[in-house]
Amino acid sequence: MFAQYIIREMAGVFGLASAARCLILLCMEKPDRPANVSDAKSSERTRRPEPAPEMTGDRKSPHVDIRWLKDIERVLITEQQLARRISEMTQAIQRDFSGREMVVVSVLSGTVMFLADLIRHLNLPMRLDFIGVSSYGAGTESGDLVFTKELRIDVKHRDVLLVDDILDTGKTMSRVLEKLKALRPRKVRTCVLLNKAARRVENVKADYIGFEIPDYFVVGYGLDFAERYRNLPFVGVLHEHVFKEAQKSPYRK
Ligand code: PRP
Repeated sequence: MFAQYIIREMAGVFGLASAARCLILLCMEKPDRPANVSDAKSSERTRRPEPAPEMTGDRKSPHVDIRWLKDIERVLITEQQLARRISEMTQAIQRDFSGREMVVVSVLSGTVMFLADLIRHLNLPMRLDFIGVSSYGAGTESGDLVFTKELRIDVKHRDVLLVDDILDTGKTMSRVLEKLKALRPRKVRTCVLLNKAARRVENVKADYIGFEIPDYFVVGYGLDFAERYRNLPFVGVLHEHVFKEAQKSPYRK
């Protein structure tokens, strides 16, 4: 009824051809409305992830605690920001996976904190398994990935959520996905806390992303540099001098 009224009115003013063109344009323009519960299933996975706070111009990043001041240049994502975003991600995952038992596959070891906070709020029947991937396998060239821990759970015909802390070049996720898909799960979705799109070399995307981050070397909240800093409760930017000193050290990882 409304469309007929619009055509009639516009035809009177602009002529029939112009009116039809306008109507087509109107139909193509979808209103930019917030997702509601009924359409969350598709929109949550595709909606833009949150940029790290400083990318939005929010420079009110808190002072780095004196304990970390020597090594950490600044806090990129605070504990509170992490908690809030992870809670939103959990709700989206819950909606997409409801109705069936899921298998959460977590990539060792950087996911330790993110995984714990994510699954503690997932109110769904689930099983948990870990997969280990390393670029430091004996006899491999630097950058080659080897699996250091295989899955124990059979994921065939299962709904799988693959969890990693950061999607960087994409090599890890791409290899793990290839391996998982060969095991013929019913569906696989990917979930990362951080997405560093600037360094991507593989054509891989995550379905659920916590934060988009710039090309900084970040540590904390599970992420390490030479196995250190995983215990920081926030995500922070590592001071450049830490890299430089480590490069000189004979004990570097
Ligand atoms: C990190 C991170 C991801 C991977 C992402 O793992 O945990 O798994 O790198 O990088 P990519 O996208 O370039 O492949 P890392 O090998 O440092 O091991 P860790 O998780 O034990 O720290």
